[in-house]
This record gives sequence, C-alpha cells and structure tokens, in this order.
Amino acid sequence: MAQDAKARIDELRKALDKHNYNYYVLNAPEISDYEFDMMMNELIALEKAHPEYADATSPTQRVGSDINRQFVQVEHRRPMLSLGNTYSIEEVEEFVARCKQMLGGEDFEIVGEMKYDGTSISLIYEHGKLTRAVTRGDGVKGDDVTANVKTIRSIPLQLRGEDYPDEFEVRGEVLMPWKVFDALNKERAFNEEPLFANPRNAAAGTLKLQNSAEVAKRNLDAYLYFLLGENLPGDTHSGNMEMVKKWGFKTGQYQILHSIDEVRRFIAYWDTERKNLPIATDGLVFKVNSLRQQRNLGFTAKSPRWAVAYKFAPERECTQLKFVSFETGRSGVITPVANLEPVQLSGTIVKRASLHNEDIIRQLDIHEGDFVYVEKGGEIIPKIVGVDVKQRKPGSRPVEFVRTCPVCGTALVRVEGEAAWTCPNKYYCRPQITGRIEHFVSRHAMDIDGIGEEVAEQLYAARLVETVADIYDLTEHDLVTLERFGERSAKRILAGVEASKAVPFERVVYALSIPFVGETVAKKLAQAVKNIDNLMAMNSEQLAMIPEIGPKIAESIVQFFKVPINRVIVERLRIAGLRMQVEEKIVEVKSNVLEGKSIIISGVFDYHSRDEYKQIIEQHGGKNVGSISAKTDYVLAGAKMGPAKLEKAKKLGIEIISETDFLKMIGEM
Ligand code: IVH
Repeated sequence: MAQDAKARIDELRKALDKHNYNYYVLNAPEISDYEFDMMMNELIALEKAHPEYADATSPTQRVGSDINRQFVQVEHRRPMLSLGNTYSIEEVEEFVARCKQMLGGEDFEIVGEMKYDGTSISLIYEHGKLTRAVTRGDGVKGDDVTANVKTIRSIPLQLRGEDYPDEFEVRGEVLMPWKVFDALNKERAFNEEPLFANPRNAAAGTLKLQNSAEVAKRNLDAYLYFLLGENLPGDTHSGNMEMVKKWGFKTGQYQILHSIDEVRRFIAYWDTERKNLPIATDGLVFKVNSLRQQRNLGFTAKSPRWAVAYKFAPERECTQLKFVSFETGRSGVITPVANLEPVQLSGTIVKRASLHNEDIIRQLDIHEGDFVYVEKGGEIIPKIVGVDVKQRKPGSRPVEFVRTCPVCGTALVRVEGEAAWTCPNKYYCRPQITGRIEHFVSRHAMDIDGIGEEVAEQLYAARLVETVADIYDLTEHDLVTLERFGERSAKRILAGVEASKAVPFERVVYALSIPFVGETVAKKLAQAVKNIDNLMAMNSEQLAMIPEIGPKIAESIVQFFKVPINRVIVERLRIAGLRMQVEEKIVEVKSNVLEGKSIIISGVFDYHSRDEYKQIIEQHGGKNVGSISAKTDYVLAGAKMGPAKLEKAKKLGIEIISETDFLKMIGEM
C-alpha cells in the first residue's frame, strides 16, 4: 500500500511540476486550472497521510505557510556586484571600444538583454534542488528568503533534465508583472492603503513579507540572467542561458550582437518594444559573451568590466495645468489633483496627476496656468516633476491649498507632524459617509455584493443608508424604489446582507473604518481582545500593549469609540446579528499527557506545521507559550532553532525535545 502511495506521490509531483512549468515558464498550459487543482489536492492528501515521504521541493510547498519568520542574514557565496550605467548610445560605444582595446583587438560577441526592473535574487541549487534564495542586501550579505521564493511558480524547486552541476548559483530578478501590480494597487486604493509606487517596490516589499502564504497570493515572477559556479556547462554566457532554460528557468529574451550597428538596432527596437512586455524594464544590459574573454576583462571594485547597463530615459512631456482640484477621501484626507491639458505619455493619455499634499505644491512652486513637466518613469502614476517658469504668465498666482473641505465647507485640520490636511466633519461630509459604506461592503470586509460606489451614493442620496448600520434595515421595498433597481438586484443585495452576518469578527473590526485599522491590524486586534466590548473598553495604554499596535493606532481606536454615534452603530450591528466576538475553537481532547505543561515551539518541522503543533499541544492538554521563561516545561525544537533561544533554554534547564520524541510522547509514532 505504502509503495503504491509513494509511486502515486512521485507521479503527481512530476506531473504538477511539468504543468507548473508549462503554465508559468512557457505560458502554454496543457490542462485546465480545475484539473491542476484536483491533482494538487490529491497530492496534499497523500502527503498528509504519508508524512514519511515529505519533501521540501514538492509542488505542495509552493503555497507557503503562515509561520511568521524573521529573516536570517546570510553571506553570499560570491559577492553580488552591480553594473556600470550608461545613458546614451555613445557611452555604450565607449564600453564596446574599451572591451576591444583590453582584449588586444580581438573580436568578440555581445549579448543584449533586458534590464529587468525588479529586485535581484541569488538562488543556490544543490543536486538539482533549490536549497537557498537570498536577496542582494548590501552585496555581501542578504536576507534568506527561501520560503517566500519557493512560492514563485516560475522558479523550479527541482531542476528538469540531469546535466546540471552538483552545486551552482543562478541570479536573476524577481518581478511583479504589470497586471498583478495593477490589480494589487487597485485593491490597496480601495482599502485606502498606501499604493506601491512601481512594480519594483511591490516585488521587493512582497519578498520581505513575513508570511509566505501572503507572498504566494501575490503571483511574483522571476527572470534569470547570470549563472555562476565551478564546472559550468558552457563557455559562453548565451550557452549557459540555454542550459538554464533547459533546467526549467525563465530567462527572458536576449540576442547575440556582432557589431555596434547591431547594438544600435537592438536599442532602437527595445526602446519602444519593451512597452509590450508583461514586466517592467528600466534599460538594457550588454555582456561580453565569451566566458574566457569575461575572465580577461575582469572586475573593478564595484562592477564587471565585461558588462554595462544602458538606462532608458524616463518619458517626460510638458503640458498646461488647467486647474487643481481637491478631493475628500473616506478618511477625510484632502488630496490635491492637477488637472492637465491631456498629453500622450508612455502609451497612455495623462489628464490628471496627484500632487500628494501641500508641501509638494510648495516645493514645486506651481502657479495657476503653469506649464508643467509630467514624467512617467518607473512609476505608474504620472508625476509632476517641475515647472517651465519661462512660459509662466506674468502676474499668475501660486496655487493655494484649500482651507475648507471642498464638499462640506468645514475648516480643515492638519495634525502636527503630518503632511495631510483632513476634513474633521466625519459624520456629515458626503464622500466620507459613502466611502465608509463602500468600505464596509467591500470584499475583504463584509463582502456584500451589489453595492458599489454608485449604489452607495444612491442609497445615501435617498437617505436609506446614512450609517453602515442602516444597511441591515434595508427592505426589498426600499431598494426597488431606487433608479435602475429591479427585484433581482434587490434580492441579490439582501442575500449578501444576510450572508454577511456570518463574517468573522476580525473582518467586522476592519469594516468599521477605524482610522489606521487596516486588514492586518484588525486581525491582530481581534485575536488579542476577543470581543467588541473589550475593544471598546480598553484605553490607549492597554491597546498599545498588543503586539504590532503602536500608540498612533491605539489612540485612533480610543478616539473612534469616544464618538457616541460609533457606539450606537456597533450596538445596532450587534442587534442585527453580526459577529462581535472571535469564534472560540472547540478543542478536540485526545489525551492528557501534556496536562499542565507549558511548551514553546521553535524552528521548522518535518511532520506537521507549527500551527498544527499548536493545536496538537492543546489537544493533549498542554499550553503553547510564546517566549521562554523559567516556567516553560519543554522546548519542542525543530531544525534551524535560533542559537540564542537554544542557549537560553539550556541556561534555564528546560528540557529540549525533538520532533520525533514529541510525536512519541503523544503516541503518534
Ligand atoms: S547582470 C555582476 N543582467 O541590475 C552584475 N543584471 O546594477 C551581474 N539587472 O543588481 C548582473 N537585469 O539586479 C544583470 N539582465 C540583467 C539584469 C540585471 C536587471 C539588475 C540586477 C543588478 C543590477 C545591476
């Protein structure tokens, strides 16, 4: 039986690896997502039933885990250098001439490739398996982000073929494709979370997330461009790249160039063609192809002499400012927006650009009717980078930031030390009210289908929904009175309203629109306070004791519940039947062998995840604790337990038990 299971596990792993490769590297799936999921589910079940066949490179490992990890700093096996930059074709020509001269006039080939605009990564493979992934860091040391990198589907965990060196390093760029980036920012904008300025920041930020299951959801991609190690298969860079491709990596496009004319044509072609790529690039890279010639050219202290980067100029246009408008958001923050004479830039027509805040307007010294320079470089949102003062009309006045809310007329306030002006009229200012309604019904909050921006406006205009609590009093009769509303759309909303009563407490906390309480903070709060009454009763000192809750968030929560209307809303939501406390998990008691024992979990494990161990400890009567003290009874120690913790445990004389010993204790082995 076990033999059969092993054979099936191997078969599934191989098939899933192949389909992953077809989908993520070749962009040519052969099976449907459904079939893929079915195979994956089968493999997950088999691996669970047969922990003896666990394998760190199994395709099941790509989903990540919710273990929070601090990154360990590790030294690069070979330092990660950077490239010299050039900004013109002439400078690239100088690079080519320099190489020629240093090679004693020898002919040489150049490989032209993209300069990927992401975050660089070093991957180590041993015996065909990915064993380590490290960020660039300072070039000498970087962060070990292996768990996060394993979630990137286009990076093979197990290499294809057999002809790879026993040990090698391959470097490349981790990227967030434009499509993924746009969707992520759209979601963040909706949640009023800070936007990522460009895919590079988004990719770097994602790689540093503590929770690899979150990373898995972000759909990163990776392009590899540099193979290092002893016994490399080829004697040219392009030859190595062909091998890298064969082993299952994505390399992106490159071309062997034989003359400076070909280099010029390559630049001219990609200068426009790069805009059609699914990922961001900020230039091109030219590398001497022969590895022998590369060795002859060598390195300077900072970069190789055999390669150079050519950076694209950011696109910039000059256009006239029509007027500056001021917009009020859900949290009352006023955003100044430059409305421009439409201008074509990087393939899109730009009509508006954010001016962010009053300080930026002052710095730019923008006057009414000015001609401004708009740039779209790595940043997706167009930026105003300067003013053409020569074209300024005499006597034109500087742009003034409004002092009252453009919607409700209330005097704005600016919190000391912050750049933003806000409208304090939270409960009567329309965009703040409708913004809160939209947020309340959004997918990550109460997830009520059918109420978008427009419907929220309609409901408010009809005075049907003035606070989020009113949503629970809506009737079909109310809804069908609205314009363009039929029985079907009314029923759909009411069904969503009903279903929202089962949404967990943490999302209710998030849905309330407490300033500075985003999704993650809401989750932490809910876990710590357990129910709404505790949350409403706590003072800011108590709240600030909760891990990851700073004084600013704590104060914001206290202020929120000081407002009587917010307390009334909570009471009405409670009566409506929303969840106002965390669901206590019912612990299935299995034994009492750990009765009264405090156990700390440390390191990584082979048979169960850390979360599973937490649960197992409870099922056997024990208590899982977060930090070591004299009261701790055992340390359940997995691999890679931190040396400091181990030292402390030894000092306190706490018994350290291995994973297998623990499983024996509870009778699982
Ligand atoms: S080769 C010894 N090739 O640009 C340097 N780098 O400033 C080897 N980059 O840190 C790097 N695309 O993150 C190389 N096709 C490409 C690249 C590339 C992007 C990044 C890389 C590096 C930086 C150099």
